[in-house]
Amino acid sequence: MQVRIGIHTGLVVVGEMGAGDTREPMAIVGETPNIAARFQEIAKPNTVVLSAATHQLIEGYFVCQPLGAQSLKGVMTPVELYQVLGEGPAHNRLEVAGTRGLTPFVGREQELGLLHECWQQATEGRGQVVLLTGEAGIGKSRLVQALKERIAGESVTYLEASCSPYHQDSALYPAIELSQRVLRFQQGGSLEEKLHKLETSIVGAPGRMPPHEIVPLLASLLSLPLPDRYLPLTLTPQKQKEKTQAALLTWLLQETDRQPTLLVWEDLHWADPSTSELFGLLLGQVPTSRFLVILTFRPEFLPPWTSRSHGSPKALIQRICKKRRNS
Ligand SMILES: Nc1ncnc2c1ncn2[C@@H]1O[C@H](COP(=O)(O)OP(=O)(O)OP(=O)(O)O)[C@@H](O)[C@H]1O
Ligand SMILES: [Mg+2]
Repeated sequence: MQVRIGIHTGLVVVGEMGAGDTREPMAIVGETPNIAARFQEIAKPNTVVLSAATHQLIEGYFVCQPLGAQSLKGVMTPVELYQVLGEGPAHNRLEVAGTRGLTPFVGREQELGLLHECWQQATEGRGQVVLLTGEAGIGKSRLVQALKERIAGESVTYLEASCSPYHQDSALYPAIELSQRVLRFQQGGSLEEKLHKLETSIVGAPGRMPPHEIVPLLASLLSLPLPDRYLPLTLTPQKQKEKTQAALLTWLLQETDRQPTLLVWEDLHWADPSTSELFGLLLGQVPTSRFLVILTFRPEFLPPWTSRSHGSPKALIQRICKKRRNS
């Protein structure tokens, strides 16, 4: 089967229309869907064609090829079209904005200072967790980026993951994406090659889950076939989820054995329940590691694993740092 997709962005009227046999409970009318239908006619099989209005919204998240201005039946002026070629490098708004050049970082010296203080403590083996909360657009991601710029050049491993509204129902999706990035899985790479990368990335350590237990759990998470040299997983789904979370935790913590690690997990308000639970486990392990964990989220998210009262980002950072310092 082949498909052609046309996407346009604009005003539409949605609602119940018609009556009797022609009744449509959710009809969509207006110029926008008509134009999108024309794009669909132009699109080659198995391609997606967009208007300039849609392209502006998704630029950076997807790589597109301009198709030039095209005349469409029923549309007065030629329309600029784009064909989607694949996923782009950007994972969030800030990364997209970064490709166009960011305005200089303004203010937030105190917050940045506190984050930096937390980082220094983490490098000394007193791991820190910072919950960074605030309204959309207030500057959470930008503050984290400013910290990254401040510590650039130091010995640091960056681990970055983000939750997305599109994957709220996929268990541990951000952790899968993070693992694939850390393991440098190439698109089109063979399954054997990927398994090899996973195996060589896991180092055993006394008191931690051993590699021969971690590999089958993470292989299953990453949809990699398990070779015969490993015992197949025979756990209940609940038990497998718990052990997979523990395996991920071990894997993340081993990064901090090599060098101090900054783990930034963005947009927890979109976390699936299993990812949210993972932090409950992680937070208990951080204080004795060289981890600075920064979790960002909007105020509607109430972390299940910490005090339910939280104020402005500044207040929260201070509260967390003080708590850690005193403990
Ligand atoms: N201190 C600052 N100085 C200059 N620009 C800033 C500052 N804080 C935020 N911005 C700009 O404001 C925009 C929104 O910031 P940012 O993406 O960090 O918000 P956010 O809190 O992470 O929002 P969301 O919840 O949607 O992820 C960005 O373009 C960013 O560069
Ligand atoms: Mg953000």
